[in-house]
Amino acid sequence: MLHTFLVAATLLLFSAAACGETDPDSGLIVDEHWQLVKANCSACHSPKLVTQNRGSRQNWLKTIRWMQETQGLWQFDAVTETAILDYLEKNYAPAAASRRAPLNRLLMPVNPYPTETG
Ligand code: HEC
Repeated sequence: MLHTFLVAATLLLFSAAACGETDPDSGLIVDEHWQLVKANCSACHSPKLVTQNRGSRQNWLKTIRWMQETQGLWQFDAVTETAILDYLEKNYAPAAASRRAPLNRLLMPVNPYPTETG
């Protein structure tokens, strides 16, 4: 009984997390203008190139300009470009550092291997 409940709860949790979060087809975060980004940014390469990158608005614009100058990316009208940049800036901004601070040396176990300092 408890088992059935746990399985159901887990399934619910997963479906809630998957629903409305990312587009299963492209992996893009579903948010305002995501379809515009999907349409314009997955024609030449996998949308993974977008989703695995992060950057400031300025950096995204630089990447777009680079693709326009060297990779045949078409020009956007100002409204489209603003919408794409709004989406990228909001959803693929640089992530905050997620590593914890190192442990204080005094809290570390004794190093079993000989070191220069002993
Ligand atoms: C006309 C084709 C084309 C379109 C459309 C396109 N790209 Fe690209 N993009 C490229 C090419 C070519 C590369 C280089 C791929 C490689 O290195 O394998 C690239 C690379 C990238 C990179 C990696 C840049 C790096 O520094 O490694 C990102 C991020 C990127 N594109 C994002 C986008 C976004 C966002 C859009 C939509 C605004 C987009 N692309 C639309 C052609 C395109």
